[in-house]
Amino acid sequence: MQRLTLALPGNEDLARGIAQACGSEAGRIETRRFPDGESYVRLHGEPADRIVDLICTLAHPDPQFLLLAFAADAARELGAQEVNLIAPYLAYMRQDKRFHDGESVTSRSFARLVSSTFDKLLTVDPHLHRYPTLSALYTIPTITLHAAPLLADWIANHVEEPLIVGPDEESEQWAGAIASRIGVPHAVLRKTRHGDRSVDIDVPDLSIWRGRTPVLVDDIASSGRTLAVAARKLAEQGMRKPECVVVHALFAEDAWAQLTPLFARITSTDAVPHPSNRIGLASLIADALSSGKTDPRG
Ligand code: R5P
Repeated sequence: MQRLTLALPGNEDLARGIAQACGSEAGRIETRRFPDGESYVRLHGEPADRIVDLICTLAHPDPQFLLLAFAADAARELGAQEVNLIAPYLAYMRQDKRFHDGESVTSRSFARLVSSTFDKLLTVDPHLHRYPTLSALYTIPTITLHAAPLLADWIANHVEEPLIVGPDEESEQWAGAIASRIGVPHAVLRKTRHGDRSVDIDVPDLSIWRGRTPVLVDDIASSGRTLAVAARKLAEQGMRKPECVVVHALFAEDAWAQLTPLFARITSTDAVPHPSNRIGLASLIADALSSGKTDPRG
């Protein structure tokens, strides 16, 4: 069946790349606000009898989700056979338990909203920590892609003598996979988080790797505190100025300004549009859409 690729505003570049790579028709979604703040949504493209892929990375999920829900309903009413959400960055994955009495477990609520709106969800490196797979949360078929091979190849082509460094235990999965793909050493630091913008990091003795360039790799750069503290700790050990490669470049508030002096270079995938984007995901996503394979239910 023919596909129609529709980008929410701000996602046009990635959508164009995906449409080109999978040979689908590319339309667009017009949005604006009425004077009272309500949203207007109009699809430009022909959804009838098509698989419609709505492209919207969820770096600003609260305003974006309502627009997506309106667009998905419009596509169905206009005859789409399937309506999918392509969200390279999947929001609301980190509040995955009730840490304090009365808290909303937003990962579950958001999964319920997405699952009741779309037929399938495709994302890249979702922050799976306490949930083993997306299917533990989402009731629709999902496609989970991994950017580690692309990060590894970029590092192999652009950094001499790298030492891959994961800033916390959760990043072992990326650091280990990247290091083994390009045959270089890796180290994993230990992080204790005290609050949204407060982390401590313990660094093992890395002196034997002083001749290498540390490359900090992580899934998400949000407040940037994890990367900033890790970079300062590496400097205290007399290591070279590090590189940084992340999947999801959120860089909230002043994170980008805080981080740039600490790194030789900061690189990200285009999962979230940002000046640091150097690693494109369009082909990875298009290949997955064309193959039609979804994650095993677990
Ligand atoms: C969490 O464990 C993630 O892997 C990232 O390390 C974290 O989300 C980064 O957050 P921030 O930039 O706010 O320190």
